[in-house]
Amino acid sequence: MTINNVTVIGSGTMGSQIGIVAALNGFRTTIVDISDDALKAADEQLRYRMGRDVKKKRRSQADVGAAFERLTLTTDQAEAVKDADIVIEAAVENIEIKRKLFAELDSQAPAHAILATNSSNIVSSRLADATSRPEKVCNMHFFNPVLVMEACEVVGHDQTSEETLDTVAQLATDMGKKVIRVNQEIPGFIANRLLAALRTEALKLYQGGYASFEDIDIAATAALRHPMGPFELMDLVGIDVAYLIRKAEYEQTGEQESLPSPALEKKYNSGEYGRKTGRGWYVYDEEGKKIGPNEG
Ligand code: CAA
Repeated sequence: MTINNVTVIGSGTMGSQIGIVAALNGFRTTIVDISDDALKAADEQLRYRMGRDVKKKRRSQADVGAAFERLTLTTDQAEAVKDADIVIEAAVENIEIKRKLFAELDSQAPAHAILATNSSNIVSSRLADATSRPEKVCNMHFFNPVLVMEACEVVGHDQTSEETLDTVAQLATDMGKKVIRVNQEIPGFIANRLLAALRTEALKLYQGGYASFEDIDIAATAALRHPMGPFELMDLVGIDVAYLIRKAEYEQTGEQESLPSPALEKKYNSGEYGRKTGRGWYVYDEEGKKIGPNEG
C-alpha cells in the first residue's frame, strides 16, 4: 500500500513534530486539533524550529518552504481525514478519549486508511475494537523531539495485518527513522521501558534524599554520558505525560509499583509540566532554554 496523505491528530509537542517531519519528507500532511490556540502555538513553534534549521544551514529555505506548502493545520477533523491514507493519533494519553476518537476516525477515514496511535503505553488492541478495521490498527511510536530522535517503534496487536505493519514501517523509514519492530504488545514497548527503569530509580534516589535531582542528572550526563539526565528528560517529554503513562500502566497491571511516585504526583498536581509550561524540575525561558532548578 502506498502512503501519500498523512493526517496527525493532536498538535502538541509530539503531533506537531510528527506532522512537520512527514511534510519535510514529501507527504501531504494535515495536523488536526480541537483548539485554534493550540494550532497557532504549534505553527509558531514549527516556524521557529524550521527558522533555526535554515539559519544554521541544516535545511534549505526551499525545503522548508515546500514542507509548509504540504502542511495544513485545521480544527475540521472530518475534512482532514477524508482523503487520509494513514491517521496517526497523538492526542492525550487517555483510553476513553482515544477509543472515542478511533470510533470517529473509523467512520470518517476512507476504508483503506490505517489508523495508528503514537502512544507507547496504550497498546492498539485496546483501541482496535472501537473500529470496524482492527487489521489496520497499530502503534507507531515516535520519540521526543521527533525532529531529532531517529527511532520509531512499530507494534501490532493479534489482528493487525502484516501489510499494515510493513506499510507503517516503510512510512517511518521514509520519514527518516530507524524502525524498531516490537513483536508482541507490552506497555511502554522497548525504549520507554529502558527509560522507565532509569526514571524510577532516579525518583527513588531523589525521594530517599540520597541526592538532589540536579546531582542525579549530573550522574547521568557526566558519569554515563547520557545526553540529558532523567529529570531534565521528564521536563522535555512532559511531567504530565510521564505521570499519565504510569497511571495507564497501573490500569493495565493493577500493580502498586506501576503507580506514579509521590514526587511525580506532586509535580503533576501543581501543573508544572516541564518545558511546555516553563517550569518543571527546572525553570525555562521563552525559547525553552534551561535557566536553573525550580526551587518551588
Ligand atoms: N524540538 C526540536 N528540535 C530540538 C529540540 C526540540 N524540543 N531541542 C533541541 N532540538 C534540536 C535543535 O536542532 C537544537 O539546535 P538549535 O538549538 O541550534 O536549534 C539541537 O537539537 C541541540 O539542542 P540543544 O543545544 O538545546 O541541546 P542538546 O545538544 O542537549 O540536544 C536533545 C537536545 C536533542 C533533546 C538531546 O539532549 C537529547 O537527545 N536528549 C535525550 C532525548 C530523549 O531521550 N528523548 C526520548 C524521550 S522518550 C520519548 O520521547 C518517548 C515517549 O513516549 C514520550
